Amino acid sequence: MSTGDKENDPLSSFQPPFEHFSTQALHVGQDPEQWNSKAVVPPISMSTTFKQSGPGKHAGFEYSRSGNPTRNCLEKAVAALDGAKYCLAFASGLATTMTIAHLLKSGDGIICMNDVYGGTNRYFSRVASEMGLETSLIDCTSLKCLKEAIKPNTKLVWIETPTNPMMSVVDIKACAEVVHERGDIIMVVDNTFMSAYFQRPLALGADICMYSATKYMNGHSDVVMGLASMNREDIYEKLKFLQNAIGAVPSPFDCFLCNRGLKTLSLRMRQHFKNALAVAQFLEADPRVEKVFFPGLPSHPQYKVTKQQCTGSSGMIAFLIKGNLENAKIFLENLKLFCLAESLGGYESLAEHPAIMTHASVPKEERKVLGISDTLIRLSVGLEDVTDIIEDLDKALKAAHPDVETPAK
Ligand SMILES: Cc1ncc(COP(=O)(O)O)c(C=O)c1O
Repeated sequence: MSTGDKENDPLSSFQPPFEHFSTQALHVGQDPEQWNSKAVVPPISMSTTFKQSGPGKHAGFEYSRSGNPTRNCLEKAVAALDGAKYCLAFASGLATTMTIAHLLKSGDGIICMNDVYGGTNRYFSRVASEMGLETSLIDCTSLKCLKEAIKPNTKLVWIETPTNPMMSVVDIKACAEVVHERGDIIMVVDNTFMSAYFQRPLALGADICMYSATKYMNGHSDVVMGLASMNREDIYEKLKFLQNAIGAVPSPFDCFLCNRGLKTLSLRMRQHFKNALAVAQFLEADPRVEKVFFPGLPSHPQYKVTKQQCTGSSGMIAFLIKGNLENAKIFLENLKLFCLAESLGGYESLAEHPAIMTHASVPKEERKVLGISDTLIRLSVGLEDVTDIIEDLDKALKAAHPDVETPAK
């Protein structure tokens, strides 16, 4: 890249990209020599069972729940992208969360960031709690809150950064230092919003980096899957046992698709970020918008931390539209290019209303504390031409606020 290109590249304000990322995404775990056919693209290995040459004598695979060749390729590639020794794939992001929770025993305590994906909150507060795990939801952007929340029975700290949907950024390194003052607490970072391309939680001190691979890691909105990467062998051995013992594994076809999605992860993430930054700047300057939450904007309260721990920010933006629920609904119903739908991280632009959609399972009082109001809108900015994306937002804002004058564009 020439100096001029660097000056124009908004990503140059962040940490430099992880070395060899694109090469590893294309090649780690994909060696054609592992197949008799020498297939360049890993085949979809649908067989549920594998021939043994004698009882207990096999070539690495016995039964597809415990291990599958296509899954193996994906797990190796993701481990490399996370700077990890190991990775395990699961049937969904929540299946990953559930399997990790099984590392604990009844009576153990979990500290979970209060602003997390609604389903994570629901799992810890309403499912894990029924099995005797105590969960406290706290604001991990405050190290003081985190320190005070750690109790003798605390065994797991669950962080999501940036948070969903408020886009707050948690300082992973600082939290890991606090958590690891005790040797028996596992710290997990949900890295779904950033993907392996923009953030490496393990290098910042986390013990497990997990994903809803349904989002950016697969990137094409056609797979539901979860991933967990780690360096600690003891955690890997336990989770590998649980992956097989619980059995929440993804299908070989889904592994094939996600493995394919990784091949364009670096290209997709760079473009998601560039489009999202342009959208965030547009929204921030718009009189019909109250507030924008995007960690890639210098006005974001944790911009400094974002620049320290990330190589960029993704396509995720939240904003408050001026007015009330009615204005928010009119805006969402008038989008044409953005699809009104849950989920995020695919190539296509999506918009949603967290209070009614993704975070409806979070109790109303909790939503209020977090700032998930009736006028909050979450965008997953896709890979369409950015002028079309902004035009669509502009038209929908006009429908929601027909009387507000906007400067000529
Ligand atoms: C940040 C985050 N983590 C976890 C999940 C759960 O993943 P899945 O839907 O793949 O079970 C989601 C889903 O939206 C999410 O956004």
